[in-house]
Amino acid sequence: MKNLQLQLRFLVPLILVLAITAWLSLPVVDRLTLRWFARDLDLRGELVANTLSESVADALREPNGRKLRALFGRAVQDERLVAIGWCSPMGEMLVRTPSFPPDVTCAQAVRLNGEADPALRLDGGPVHLSLHEVRAESGPVGQLVLLHDLSFIERRSQDTRRYLVLLITGLGVLIALVTMAVAQLSWRGWIKGTRALLRGEGLLRPLDGGGELAPLAAEVRTRLRDLEDEYRRAATHETGWDAARLQSLLRTQLRGDEILVVSNREPYIHEQDPAGSIVVRRPASGLVTAVEPVMRACSGTWIAHGSGSADRDVVDRHDRVSLPPGQDDYRLRRVWLTEEQEQGYYYGFANEGLWPLCHVAHVRPVFRESDWRHYREVNQRFADAVVAEARSDDPVVLVQDYHFALLPAMVRSRLPRATILTFWHIPWPNPESFGICPWRDELLEGMLGSTIMGFHTPTHGKNFLESVDRYLEARIEHEHSTVSFRGEQTFVAAYPISIEWPTASTLASWATPEACRAQVRATLGIPEDHRIAVGVDRFDYTKGILERLHAVERLLEKYPQWRDTFTFVQVAAPTRASLEEYQAFQQRIHALAERINRRFSAGGRGVVRLLAQHHEPEAVTRLYRAADACLVTSLHDGMNLVCKEFVAARDDEQGVLVLSRFAGAARDLPEALVVNPYHVEEVADALHRALTMPPAEQRERMASLRSTVREFNVYRWAGHMLADAARWRLRERVSRRVLRHGSAENDDPLARRA
Ligand code: G6P
Repeated sequence: MKNLQLQLRFLVPLILVLAITAWLSLPVVDRLTLRWFARDLDLRGELVANTLSESVADALREPNGRKLRALFGRAVQDERLVAIGWCSPMGEMLVRTPSFPPDVTCAQAVRLNGEADPALRLDGGPVHLSLHEVRAESGPVGQLVLLHDLSFIERRSQDTRRYLVLLITGLGVLIALVTMAVAQLSWRGWIKGTRALLRGEGLLRPLDGGGELAPLAAEVRTRLRDLEDEYRRAATHETGWDAARLQSLLRTQLRGDEILVVSNREPYIHEQDPAGSIVVRRPASGLVTAVEPVMRACSGTWIAHGSGSADRDVVDRHDRVSLPPGQDDYRLRRVWLTEEQEQGYYYGFANEGLWPLCHVAHVRPVFRESDWRHYREVNQRFADAVVAEARSDDPVVLVQDYHFALLPAMVRSRLPRATILTFWHIPWPNPESFGICPWRDELLEGMLGSTIMGFHTPTHGKNFLESVDRYLEARIEHEHSTVSFRGEQTFVAAYPISIEWPTASTLASWATPEACRAQVRATLGIPEDHRIAVGVDRFDYTKGILERLHAVERLLEKYPQWRDTFTFVQVAAPTRASLEEYQAFQQRIHALAERINRRFSAGGRGVVRLLAQHHEPEAVTRLYRAADACLVTSLHDGMNLVCKEFVAARDDEQGVLVLSRFAGAARDLPEALVVNPYHVEEVADALHRALTMPPAEQRERMASLRSTVREFNVYRWAGHMLADAARWRLRERVSRRVLRHGSAENDDPLARRA
């Protein structure tokens, strides 16, 4: 409306100026047309005179002029030629047609020749006079005076005026319309451009839109990105993340926005024990270790598969239960799956397909059509649960892991304003390895429903971007690590996951390392003088347990002094045991441990203690505190949190970490003895070095490791992701506000008045 008023202010004066110009120009136009026609009539007169000259010369031979009168009488039958007179060479008017004005003499005719005199009129109408000499063979014989009717010129002049007025009016209207259209278009273009700019679209996709704002948008985009990059670089060196700081981030930057977590594994499992009572168990899962403290800090809703035998017994009618038991910091919404679904989605597609595909640990992935169907179905079920649990239309959804690659796009289609952060807890392989998955495109498309796609390391993020580049029609900005796909943008970044650094009260609850050692020795029957090395893993082929046992065996071969003074304790938490690959692997490990124990037994007890059962976190901590060395020799691992747990457990700054270079954690923990797990000799040597390392060196290394893990803790992991999400949401909010403001402006009464 305001825009229209502006245009009218410009157009009304323009039309007035055009009208006045037209009006003022009319006499000029009249004069001009009169002159054109007079010239035309002169020419015409010349033509008539030439035609008549022979007949006139002939008629002059007759003395009474009768013939000449008859000739002139015929000539004036032409409707334009109204009268003719004949002047003798002496200047006498000898003959004239009856219509010739009697008062016009030959002398006057000479004066008026060729002039359009308004005073010269015939029967009330204007006439034009022209004089033409007639020559015979003897020379000039007289002059013809021709009077032409000029009234048609007046008529034409009136017509011309009318047309001129119409033309100028039409032209004025046309100019007005074109001006209005151009103004409207460019106004809209500016508004649209500005909105797109503020929405971030122009900033992010300047090449798509083009238009006059494109260079400006590109410039602003570059500046904004630089600022964000700078912010991220600065944030990398930030310290001091803890639960309180995460809570304050949620309060300030996310202003109490709703947080939903989706994962397959639930943080607490309720089981029926043989006595019939219900026990609560904490699963052995890096994911749970990391996400649970975050949930305690932000009090959201966690959606996970209810897999415990007593899970249904403790939920309310909405399948929800408050956790942790007795503290009620957050709620867990359990999703139930049929056995068939669990088989196809979890055991099949996730753990026989994606798990080996992403770990590249020399186990062939298996892809079955029926597993894929269940995977899709279960992703949809969880996406529906997210939508059902969301109390707002723009929750922050934290999607966890390879079980839910399709869920981000599914949630995005139902809650377009949601901020979806997907974290991939396992490695991402190179594009060639990933490319063997028959549904690679669908997986990538599903993941690109995320606002932020997080990996443990920059290498995994880079592999993901390269896979997108290889298999999808998407635009990747490597410089800013973003993917634009089907009009949506995904930011791909590395967020190294970690653990919760033990609080003072947790530390106070721990027994001393000596007490832990005594307890472990007593429980496992390990002699007093034995050095203890531990391995704590899920019983999984990616963890390098086989290679580790070979290294232990090699240690005993190569360094015989350890045959009577060393025990290796391997905790292997049962996992995915119904899968053939796992069964075979677990049997192989049991067989190998037995063989080594047969070969090297210390005091009648095996040197390898394989504890293939579930251990609660307290028991694991006790083991860490009792150990002289901890072996983490994964063949490939996204991050691996066992190594960080070991470091956190050693407040005595003793104990040596032997760490696989193929675990994501190796990047941040160089003070460990970093090894190639496939190289048995190297691991055996590292183990020997660990067992013989002087306490001072142990302290030095451990102190440094501890300060890293303390700083790079799980609150920092979550804090960085959520801060990125908050910035993203802020950007979205600003652009929405601008959009609202833009559309409201059209109806703004104040604007209308202005
Ligand atoms: C890895 C995966 C997690 C999973 C955990 C335990 O850490 O990234 O998603 O929860 O293993 O495996 P499970 O299959 O027992 O949940």
